[in-house]
Amino acid sequence: MTTLDEWITKSVKNIIHISETAHLDVAILARKVCMLDRSTLGASSHIRLNEQQLESLEYFLTRRLQGEPIAYIVGEKDFWTLTLMVNRDTLIPRPETELLVECVLEKIDCQKKIRILDLGTGSGAIALSLGKECPRLDIVGTDISQKALAVATTNSKLNGVSNVQFISGNWLDAVPGQQFSIIACNPPYIANNDRQIETIHTRFEPQSALVSGEDGLEALRHIIPLAYEALLPGGWLILEHGYNQKPSVNNLLSDANFASITHASDLAKTARVSMGQKAQRVK
Ligand SMILES: C[S@@+](CC[C@H](N)C(=O)[O-])C[C@H]1O[C@@H](n2cnc3c(N)ncnc32)[C@H](O)[C@@H]1O
Repeated sequence: MTTLDEWITKSVKNIIHISETAHLDVAILARKVCMLDRSTLGASSHIRLNEQQLESLEYFLTRRLQGEPIAYIVGEKDFWTLTLMVNRDTLIPRPETELLVECVLEKIDCQKKIRILDLGTGSGAIALSLGKECPRLDIVGTDISQKALAVATTNSKLNGVSNVQFISGNWLDAVPGQQFSIIACNPPYIANNDRQIETIHTRFEPQSALVSGEDGLEALRHIIPLAYEALLPGGWLILEHGYNQKPSVNNLLSDANFASITHASDLAKTARVSMGQKAQRVK
């Protein structure tokens, strides 16, 4: 009978050539199948795997070897303080999007009951993180994908977040005539000829969540002027974008009359979030 430790050692060797995170991937699979948490995995290395566990582990490992992201295999991803269900109808939330959540939190007073819009909410990552952090906020998450919104709704229940409402629709059309203090958005921003979309990881994700026209800026070009109209005076638009899109997004924000435009950078010091404020007094 194979022990968990033996399976882990063998499996890391199997996937090390396709995954930069082979040790972590294998640990996540082992935890899922053997129903262990982070703290008990180490102490459980000697356990003997039964036939069913071994079969499940090998099935998951085969999927990983075919390039499927680990989050889709186990059906979940940790993001901010939440564990979110994900499937192939939703983008897998990325660490850079946590930077966007941080930027929103810096702009608001958590104790106030202000309205926040998360455009293109996907799994609900941004809306639910903010909702969990600040239960008084009144948050709307929108998406064009009904299937993504079904996942987001499940995630609100799984994470006990009750101050987020999900609405379907094409960008701002989902909330006609409504106004918000903050609009946050992580739109699709990859150009359709960009080789990033051919990476093994993104091949499994919905293309409508990733790709946006010839230069990757189609969605941002559409959203930015409409968001200006949907913001209350003094409100902020906070956007995630590609690693090389800071100058273009800066120009789009400025053309739409946004002021106080600033950018926030990731750990690699690359600007990945840009934000602009609507004037306090609109002329
Ligand atoms: C990059 S993903 C972001 C998902 C999630 N907010 C996150 O950060 O993990 C972009 C999202 O925008 C949605 N989307 C694409 N086109 C849209 C449109 N025309 N109107 C509304 N949402 C759209 C996609 O379905 C997808 O969920």
